[in-house]
Amino acid sequence: MTTKIFKNFSEIATLQTAHHKDGRRLLADDLDIIKNASIVFNNEEILWVGEDRNLPEEYLDVMSIEMSGKSCLPEIVDCHTHVVFGGDRSKEYSMRLDGATYEEIANAGGGILNSMKGTNSLSRNELLKIAQQRIKAIKAYGVGTIEIKSGYGLNFEKEYEISHIIHDLKNIFRPDVQIINTFMAAHAVPKEYSSSYEYMKEVVLPLLDRLAEENILDCVDIFHENNYFSEEDVISLFERAKRLNIPVKMHADEFNDNKGAILATRFEALSADHLLATGTDGIEALKNSKTVATLLPGTGFFLGKSQANARAMLDAGVKVAIASDFNPGSCHCDNLVMIASLAAPTYKMNRTELWSAITLNAAHALGLRNQGALIKGMKPRFSIFNTDSIDRITYNWGKNLSI
Ligand code: NIG
Ligand code: FE
Repeated sequence: MTTKIFKNFSEIATLQTAHHKDGRRLLADDLDIIKNASIVFNNEEILWVGEDRNLPEEYLDVMSIEMSGKSCLPEIVDCHTHVVFGGDRSKEYSMRLDGATYEEIANAGGGILNSMKGTNSLSRNELLKIAQQRIKAIKAYGVGTIEIKSGYGLNFEKEYEISHIIHDLKNIFRPDVQIINTFMAAHAVPKEYSSSYEYMKEVVLPLLDRLAEENILDCVDIFHENNYFSEEDVISLFERAKRLNIPVKMHADEFNDNKGAILATRFEALSADHLLATGTDGIEALKNSKTVATLLPGTGFFLGKSQANARAMLDAGVKVAIASDFNPGSCHCDNLVMIASLAAPTYKMNRTELWSAITLNAAHALGLRNQGALIKGMKPRFSIFNTDSIDRITYNWGKNLSI
């Protein structure tokens, strides 16, 4: 196996302390920045990280690539996206500016059901090609791991196809981009079904069984919200997923405090996502669990809603991640680094909380425990930026400094 050295970075943030603290109660210095630093690795693991002048003798003759003027962090992970969809919902954005709410638009046949039509009007190959372009754009910001949810087909055949498109994307992009395939046929209830229960019984649960047999799923997700899926639907899906040995995640408390965060922790979900309306009891449940609170500030901005109570979560010791939620309706923005830089002052996060939210904790939200920090023995997954100072990446928010 070839050993490589990336030599002389102006700064490497290892997040070693953040890793040892399991991503909770992080202090500004837990970023662990090393100046004039090098990293030695092979395809499988990191072999050494430290100040270049301390490079062990055994690596002196190894092929090295000069990185002065650049900075390095653990790989950026976008742990919540909906990349596979057809159609366009720009009109809904303008309707919201003119006073309509997301919920009103959805109840009038817009929202997810609008994207369902756009998605069903495209072939498998067309959807694959569009998603490929979107992934390339996301990767260009320095993102190396992307979770992708199905959920805009909303019938057995199209949802089956979309889970397979995500599987194809995984093979196309590996190893440069690591893709996590999340099954989310329980995204909205199509009009043909009289209830969420009926749709679960006829489409979601049988399809989950089928895809699990084909062994292509990494996670299962569901939109737990008024007019979408109930607590009973969540329980039936999560019990089935547990039996099939597939980890679960949940869209929780996005519009109302439906006690979704508490429900997610009961099933030891990898993450509970959104949490705009989560109350103190939800924060208490999260803090005592391994479930990551994945916050999606871009969605709050785009919908004009109040943001999640991030500071209360962080202070309580909840493990917090940030993701883009890139999707056609509630957040049509694919730039996670910009979203996180913009949100951190609103959330009142320190810089370690900010960076671990899109590296270490985001990896944990996908069950990836062997990345997110630059430590010997961990996976060699890192992101490199064209600046000699890590502070400058977030300071230049909206500007892409990824190499
Ligand atoms: O995460 N909340 C549910 N699903 C998406 C929005 C989907 C849409 O509007 O198309 C979300 O925000
Ligand atoms: Fe989402």
